[in-house]
Amino acid sequence: MQLTDTAALVTGGASGLGAATAASLAAGGAKVFALDLPGACEQATPMDRVSCVPADVTDVRQVQAAVDAVVASGLPLRTVVNCAGIGPSMRIVGRRGPHDVDLFARVVAVNLVGTFQVMTLAAAAVADTEADEHGQRGVVINTASIAAFDGQVGQAAYAASKAGVVGLTLPAARDLASQGIRVCTIAPGIVDTPMLSTVSEDFRAGLAAGVPFPQRLARPEEYARLVTMIVEHDYLNGETIRMDGALRMAPR
Ligand SMILES: NC(=O)c1ccc[n+]([C@@H]2O[C@H](COP(=O)([O-])OP(=O)(O)OC[C@H]3O[C@@H](n4cnc5c(N)ncnc54)[C@H](O)[C@@H]3O)[C@@H](O)[C@H]2O)c1
Repeated sequence: MQLTDTAALVTGGASGLGAATAASLAAGGAKVFALDLPGACEQATPMDRVSCVPADVTDVRQVQAAVDAVVASGLPLRTVVNCAGIGPSMRIVGRRGPHDVDLFARVVAVNLVGTFQVMTLAAAAVADTEADEHGQRGVVINTASIAAFDGQVGQAAYAASKAGVVGLTLPAARDLASQGIRVCTIAPGIVDTPMLSTVSEDFRAGLAAGVPFPQRLARPEEYARLVTMIVEHDYLNGETIRMDGALRMAPR
């Protein structure tokens, strides 16, 4: 699928993996709508051909308004990338007592339900566009994590939410096949983004040392390159692709 003269919607597009993806899709010729929280949009670095649309992925009306803004551009929405996510950590029974169930529900609401909500409303808009000569209308790319498979201590909520995103991938691809819409998921290992900004240099170096090869953290641009590869590769569908340098996380 080609990006030129198409629109793309990237959630979490003001920071980290989403911002790198927005920049890369824009460089490839798409007009990009970066959906992110209002504060994140305000702080986002302005980029050519990228507009930040303030919205919360857990708010159905705000997501619909963002999709409407994309449709109003007059360009066919072809690429939808779900990067919005949160990753708090808490043990099931820790020093402060049992895991806060509201926190668990919040992580699932943003990472899993938010992804589903954006995919659903955006796919409806993609389904309204003219198909290309191969019957294809678009692609949805979701972001899981290797925590979906190797969740560490303190990652029960995050891992469960990301495993949900992995589980959603094949049925979503099957559901949307008749509309010519592909669905893939990327499960990144450890990527050097603002999500990791709170950890020390020593801790960061320790994380990098655990990666077989290349022995470093992944770069946001490498995630963005994989997004472009999936967009361009019409036969990739219904699959979760790990991007982790062969990293398998230890319990802690
Ligand atoms: N960085 C990593 O190592 C890593 C590894 C695996 C998976 N991931 C996943 O990749 C995605 C992007 O992570 P990142 O590292 O770029 O983090 P980041 O914190 O830099 O970016 C996440 C963005 O999501 C936005 N966001 C959060 N809640 C939102 C909501 N309710 N509505 C709209 N936007 C919201 C934030 O404002 C932020 O701009 C996340 O889903 C994360 O779980 C990251």
